[in-house]
This record gives sequence, structure tokens and C-alpha cells, in this order.
Amino acid sequence: TSKEMPSEPKRNLIVVSNRLPLSVKRSEDGSYHSSMSSGGLVTSLSGLTKTTEFRWFGWPGMSPKEAEEQEEIRRSLASHNAIPVFLDEELAHKHYNGFSNQILWPILHYQSGVTYDEEMWEAYKKVNEIFADYIADAAQEEDLIWVHDYHLMLLPKLLRERMAKKKRQACIGFSLHTPFPPSETLKVLPVAKDILEGTLSSTLVGFHTDDYRKNFAESCEYLLNARSQDSAILYKDRLVKTGRFTVGIDPDKFNETLKQDEVQTRIKDLNERYKDIKVIVGVDRLDYIKGLTQKLHGFEQFLTDYPKWQGKVVLIQVAVPSREDVKEYQDLETAISCQVGKINGKFSKPEYSPIIYLHRSIPFTELTALYSIADMCLLTSSRDGMNLVAFEYVACQEQRNGVLALSEFAGASVFMADGTVQFHPANIKEMAQCIHKGLTMSKEERKERYDKLKKFVHTNTSAKWGQSFVTELSKRHV
Ligand code: ADP
Ligand code: F6P
Repeated sequence: TSKEMPSEPKRNLIVVSNRLPLSVKRSEDGSYHSSMSSGGLVTSLSGLTKTTEFRWFGWPGMSPKEAEEQEEIRRSLASHNAIPVFLDEELAHKHYNGFSNQILWPILHYQSGVTYDEEMWEAYKKVNEIFADYIADAAQEEDLIWVHDYHLMLLPKLLRERMAKKKRQACIGFSLHTPFPPSETLKVLPVAKDILEGTLSSTLVGFHTDDYRKNFAESCEYLLNARSQDSAILYKDRLVKTGRFTVGIDPDKFNETLKQDEVQTRIKDLNERYKDIKVIVGVDRLDYIKGLTQKLHGFEQFLTDYPKWQGKVVLIQVAVPSREDVKEYQDLETAISCQVGKINGKFSKPEYSPIIYLHRSIPFTELTALYSIADMCLLTSSRDGMNLVAFEYVACQEQRNGVLALSEFAGASVFMADGTVQFHPANIKEMAQCIHKGLTMSKEERKERYDKLKKFVHTNTSAKWGQSFVTELSKRHV
């Protein structure tokens, strides 16, 4: 009727991240095939696709030279609303393996002692410029542009400059999927100011926890002389809003998968296999921030301190290969497989091995079955933006009400404190005690804790996270 308020015209959403939901690879016969990418960013944004339409720009995972090949990749991604940003192989290597993962990643995870490299920085800048060119071409006046993660921290500034040249306003959101360190740690990076300035050209900047948000604001004050009050930062006459947006998963996806016959059969088989044995599950990208070395130490300590558990518990550890071209990750893989071998050598019997180590990516159905049969999920990150595996375990534990044992350095620990058993990941004795406590916890206590975790996971979904960020962003124009 004429009394109805005119509704706001719907604004289109453009999502930009280095990694697309699908990674493209070339088969031996020369054809291209794509597979689901793994990682928290893809999980959270994929959950949003259920409620919100968007175009997703990102690097497809490979660098074909010929126009025909590029076209084939473009076509294969188009049905997923994904648009490839092509990068020269050498440049992509220096940007992704180099500056992003060898320099920025450890600093964002509060590590110092990182070696700066000018050539890698130049590649980082160049890739951010290429992304800016693509997005400036694609974006229309009223579009909302949502940039993700540390690979693209210069993009908001570069994009705003390009849009200004075209006399278009830019409404740019930025979400970081990692922690953000205090200024004293960030300062180790000679280009820290550029990184902060790049990000501060956003309209809205989102973090997983209040601590990360505060560290960012404090760094802007200290290194850029910006002024920060409440959740806003004033820099060079622009007011930038910051906020904590609690990321999550799509729990329904797990519930639906659990109902599949194939998964039910698998759960039955695994339960039968482990009927007299407690199962602890761990699912982590093979990354030093996940504290896998500490996890294995803690588990070894547990078997030593509580010998009655020997032969009666297994740790099934899925270590998803990650960033395999970076030396630190290669070294970690060697160290972990050696450590697994030593512990198994120490405690195995002909009919029993305490650690089952899967160094590969496993299908989603198998992942869901594993989460479901485990009595405990053990996550030992030394630093971790959020850790969505913690959420996924909860989503699959409706029947069993298993225990979530969580490092106090995972972002998730802030929100899940009531329902989890928490420990300091470097305190191996404490970790061993927590494992024992979790495995001997009464049914009533497990249920009480589980109900709290379930409520949190079902309230804070990826769709809700995405919608609240986009709603906040769409209230603004520049
Ligand atoms: P990070 O973002 O550091 O990798 P998270 O714990 O937040 O850590 O997210 C990891 C995500 O990767 C989870 O959603 C998990 O289900 C997903 N994942 C793990 N293994 C696979 C796999 N084989 N294929 C696809 N996704 C996977
Ligand atoms: O959580 C941080 C993050 O870098 C996400 O961006 C990504 O989902 C995950 O780690 C996996 O990293 P990569 O894109 O290097 O495989």
C-alpha cells in the first residue's frame, strides 16, 4: 500500500579473499578439476551462501598462462559465483608463501624473530594492486565490498584510491581471520604502518575477539597517531568503525550429514572397532600455531602419568597438509611424523597403537563420522584466530556429549569457557591432567557442559556472523 515505507534498494555484495571456496588443479590428462578448499575462512563464508548471494573473487590456486586455460578455469568456477583473480606463478609464490605466510602470519600470531624480506613485500604490494584493479573494474557505485584476511591488508586503501579516480564511493568491509598482536609485536615488521594504513581505509573492520580488536586500535594509536574511542578510530579525517563479529559454522550441515546412511554405517563400524577404547580426535591444518608438537607431548605425558589408560585410549589425529612450499611447514611435518613414531614405538602392542596419524585431507562424511564417535576433541593451539573445529565437534556430539579440551590460546576459548576443559598448551602436565579429567567426567557433568556449548554453536552460526557484518556495513556509505 502507499503507506508502506520504501525499502532500501538492495546492495550487491562482493566478497574478496586470497583463497576461493574451490581450489583448481590440473589432472594428468590436462583437464582441470576443482576441490573444496579447507580452512576456517572457506567454512565460515560457505555457511553464508545459504542466506546471502554474493560474487566471490580470489586466487584459484594455480597460474595458467594461456588465455584459453584461464577461460576454462573461469567457466568451471562460474557456477559457484566464484571469479578467479589470475596471478603470475612467481608473484603468487612470493605473495602467498613468502610475505603472507612466512612473515605476516607468524607476526599476527604474536611471534617475533621474523626475517623481513623486501622482495616479498614488493610482491605482496603488487598482488594487492592486482586485486584492487579487478575489484575496481567489477564494483558498481552502491556495492558492498567485503575483503578477507591478512593476504589483502593493503587492498582497502588501494581500492579506495582507484574508486576515487572513477568518482565512485566505496563501502569496504575488512574481516581478519587471525589474531591481531599488540603493537610491540607488530612493530617488528618494518612495514607495519603500511599494513595498518591499508586496512584503516576500510569502512568497517571486524575481528574474532575483543582482544584482537583492542590490539588493532592500540597499534593504530601508537604507530599511526590515530585516535581511537569506543569502537571507532579517527585517522586522517576518516572515522573507521571496528567491531567484534563472532564467526561460526553451519551446524545444520553436520546434522544433515550425520543422518546419511553411509555416515551412519561408518559410525556403527567405528563404534564397534573402538567399543572398549576411548577415542580422542584432533583435526588441524598441519600448522605450528595448532600446537601439534605440544599435543603429542601432552598425550605422551598422559599415558605416562596415568598408565592404566595404556591400551585403552587412542588419539586419532587428522593433520591436513597446508602451505607445503614453506620451509617451516615442511620441517614441522618431518618433526611430527618422527614424534608420532617415537610415541607409538614406546606404547604400542601388537594389537594396539596409541596414535593414529592421518596426514591427508579426508572427505567431509568421514570427518563428520570421526567427530561423532570421539569421546573427546583435543585442540592445543598456541595461538588461533577462532578455531572452528571446536564448533564442528560440538555440532556432531548431540548423542555422546563428548568433552571439548581446548587451549586457552584459541579464540574460541573466550566464548566457550563454561563448557570446555581448558589448559595452557605449553603446560604439558596440566594438559595430561585435563585429558584424564575429560575421560573420567560423569555423564551429568558432560551433559551440563555440552548444553552450554551447543547453545553457543547453534546461536553463533556462520550465516549470523555474515549477516551481522553485512548489515553493519550496509548502514554506511563510505
Ligand atoms: P584454520 O582456519 O586455521 O584452518 P579452523 O579450525 O578455524 O582453522 O578451520 C579449519 C576448517 O577446515 C574446519 O572447518 C574444518 O572442517 C575444515 N577442514 C578440515 N579438514 C578438511 C578437509 N579434509 N576438507 C575440507 N575442509 C576441511
Ligand atoms: O584462519 C586463517 C587462514 O589463513 C584462513 O584464511 C584460511 O581459511 C586458513 O587459514 C587456511 O589457510 P590457507 O588459505 O593458507 O590454506
